[in-house]
Amino acid sequence: MDPKSMIESLPDQIVWEDIGEDVSRFSRVLICGMGGSGIVGDIARSWAEHRGVRVPVLSYRGYGLPPWAEGKETLVICVSYSGNTEETISNLETALRRGCYTLAVSSGGKLEEIAEEMKIKHFKIPGGYAPRYALGFMLSKVLSLLGIDREEIEDARENLRDRVRESEERGKDLAERVYGYIPLIYATPLTEAVAFRWKTQINENSKTQAYFATLPELHHNEVVGLDNAEVRSRFFFLLLFDPKDHHRVKLRVDITAGILKDLGIVPEILSGEGNSYLARTLHLIYTGDWTSYYLALRYRFDPLPVKVIDRIKERLSEIK
Ligand code: F6R
Repeated sequence: MDPKSMIESLPDQIVWEDIGEDVSRFSRVLICGMGGSGIVGDIARSWAEHRGVRVPVLSYRGYGLPPWAEGKETLVICVSYSGNTEETISNLETALRRGCYTLAVSSGGKLEEIAEEMKIKHFKIPGGYAPRYALGFMLSKVLSLLGIDREEIEDARENLRDRVRESEERGKDLAERVYGYIPLIYATPLTEAVAFRWKTQINENSKTQAYFATLPELHHNEVVGLDNAEVRSRFFFLLLFDPKDHHRVKLRVDITAGILKDLGIVPEILSGEGNSYLARTLHLIYTGDWTSYYLALRYRFDPLPVKVIDRIKERLSEIK
């Protein structure tokens, strides 16, 4: 499938399943993954917090697991689209060794093999996509595992479906304006996961550096960099927020926009549309996905290949 069709397929990937675990019986939930799979944990963490889930849900990247992750009160969900990412395999092996309640999500690969061998639940998603274009499959599984309501998922899917062309048009327009600049995304607590997705989609699809910072923290450091006219002129500023962000955070968004305007910078201010936090999050992600796609075309890059990532993985596989 070509990248455009894969991006277009995002709404269809979002499907609720009756696989909910009783999360309240755990003391903590850890969602492990890297890159296009790792973002699933960030979105799920943010969703759980916003939903008022009373068990800590954390996203984890890297080898092994934190020292406090042990025993059957810890639920560990290992997500790797390919099933062959060494960090995620290491998470899975560590979780099993430490007696955690462990689940795996992948399209196959080693994760599936280990799950079969160790007799733990494995949730299979369709193959044939690049991981970052399979977000809907992976996120639906993980949110379903965390017990999301069917209506919430379906509403988010329909919301996205209704906004495919609008998101594409907005992304196309934005790509034209971002072209030639380094995207700098200022997010809020409720849009931090989205900002990270924007950054990584621009990195991988558009083959372009991009950065993000989050309010309120960025008001305590990042903003001082704005004094440097020579450097700030290289960036294109985007401000992401959610209508349900803390009212003081929203005030900070306005203040940031004002500061930028005083410097002669007109930031692009964006929020998602939709009835629920999940619906708005997916909509905002989608605008970013389209922006990164059209930015790739503007730079005359094929959005699909990620040659450097492949080279690094190959090099690592040679050294055990
Ligand atoms: C996205 C991408 C990477 C991978 C990451 C982890 O398309 O190519 O960000 O997602 O290298 O691989 P998986 O997702 O297979 O665990």
